[in-house]
Amino acid sequence: MDSIRIKGGKTLKGRIPISGAKNAALPLLASCLLTEETLTLGNVPHLADIITMSNLLGQLGVEISLNGTAPGGYTGRVMELKAATLSGITAPYDLVRKMRASILVLGPLLARAGEAKVSLPGGCAIGSRPVDLHVTALQKLGAEITLDNGYIHARAPKGLTGGEIIFPMVTVTGTENAMMAATLAKGETTIVNAAREPEVVDLAHCLVAMGAQIEGIGSDRLRITGKDKLHAARHNVVPDRIEAGTFAMAAAITNGEMELIGAKLEHLNSVATILAEAGVDITETSEGLMVRRLNSLNGVDVMTEPYPGFPTDLQAQMMALMCVANGASMITETIFENRFMHVPELKRMGANITVHNSSALVRGVPLLTGAPVMATDLRASVSLALAGLAARGETTLNRIYHLDRGYERLEEKLAACGADIERIKEAA
Ligand code: EPZ
Repeated sequence: MDSIRIKGGKTLKGRIPISGAKNAALPLLASCLLTEETLTLGNVPHLADIITMSNLLGQLGVEISLNGTAPGGYTGRVMELKAATLSGITAPYDLVRKMRASILVLGPLLARAGEAKVSLPGGCAIGSRPVDLHVTALQKLGAEITLDNGYIHARAPKGLTGGEIIFPMVTVTGTENAMMAATLAKGETTIVNAAREPEVVDLAHCLVAMGAQIEGIGSDRLRITGKDKLHAARHNVVPDRIEAGTFAMAAAITNGEMELIGAKLEHLNSVATILAEAGVDITETSEGLMVRRLNSLNGVDVMTEPYPGFPTDLQAQMMALMCVANGASMITETIFENRFMHVPELKRMGANITVHNSSALVRGVPLLTGAPVMATDLRASVSLALAGLAARGETTLNRIYHLDRGYERLEEKLAACGADIERIKEAA
């Protein structure tokens, strides 16, 4: 397995292009199932998870072509997806276990084909990750759902009918599955307590471009009027706010100054507020966001919440930053039950962190020291990379397949800003 080697202590300066958002691209790819016509997506990031989703869609009969880069200055690739006819209705375990987001084919497949068999994703490193809310939402649209042999088997032979879906807790992919299914249901669907993440909004905009009728986009109450069919559309994937937030923290932890090309402040308001308290300035430029540390880094308290609150996907990165701040920081994770796997690895680099249930007390230390560390999940792995950038000496990050799932050319982008970082290819 490849690894990444970082020699810490370099100050990062320069410009970093922000790629299309992984968590927007994945539901956007799945939405191609809702029409027989071609969905053209621009600014698609080149990530392992995108390849996995493409393979799954290919197994369902979707024709996929990849060409060039999107017009309008986006760096991502243009992907054309056409689900003219479907060759199957099953998302198999061997693909779903590799990527939980495969659950996103459940809603569109059921709406289009009247049936879908999707393996239960099972848990992952950060938690049990149930999908019960997805199932109950589709049942509210008239689906008959059984769970057998580890598969969700959903049927709607006469098609779906609109209904009221009330989510007891905010679920991003649950909202996305329900919204996609409702676009082809007969009649009106209301989704109450809908997720408001920018990736959900991006999907809604694409669905509207495909002919769907959706009101309340960006709010926690969506109203969808079902259509008989959706049609071809072109849509560019929204820039990745989590990648942008990660690089903002890379600039801060190395006392550097970086311009994040394509990043949108409106998607990072809660992060910018917290970083400002910590002594990091984020200002808008004509091309994106300029991030620079003003003077010393101060410990601040952080609590993760659904959007527009502080995103759980930036919690590990923020913790790495707080490890070298002046003073203490209390970081509370409210979304997932086990999202502190980066803590033991950060402590091996000299961090001073105490975990009590869902809160971690971080006491800043003057300097971290490089060490060989192990990545456990996508965001924990990038937090270790951030710590390595600031640490004295060399850090080797193993199991970086986690990184490749969610960060496009991470080492290239950081090296271009002065980081001493390289990918070590495993001997064949
Ligand atoms: C999405 O996961 C993201 N993934 C995650 O990003 C992100 O951390 C998460 O939203 C929260 O923002 C994609 O968009 C592909 P949830 P999702 O349903 O939709 C509980 C990354 O690093 N829940 O919003 O799976 C669940 O256990 C990944 O890019 C149920 O109980 O998350 C969690 O505690 C990690 N039953 C909470 O809700 C359900 O049916 C929020 O989960 C669904 C969720």
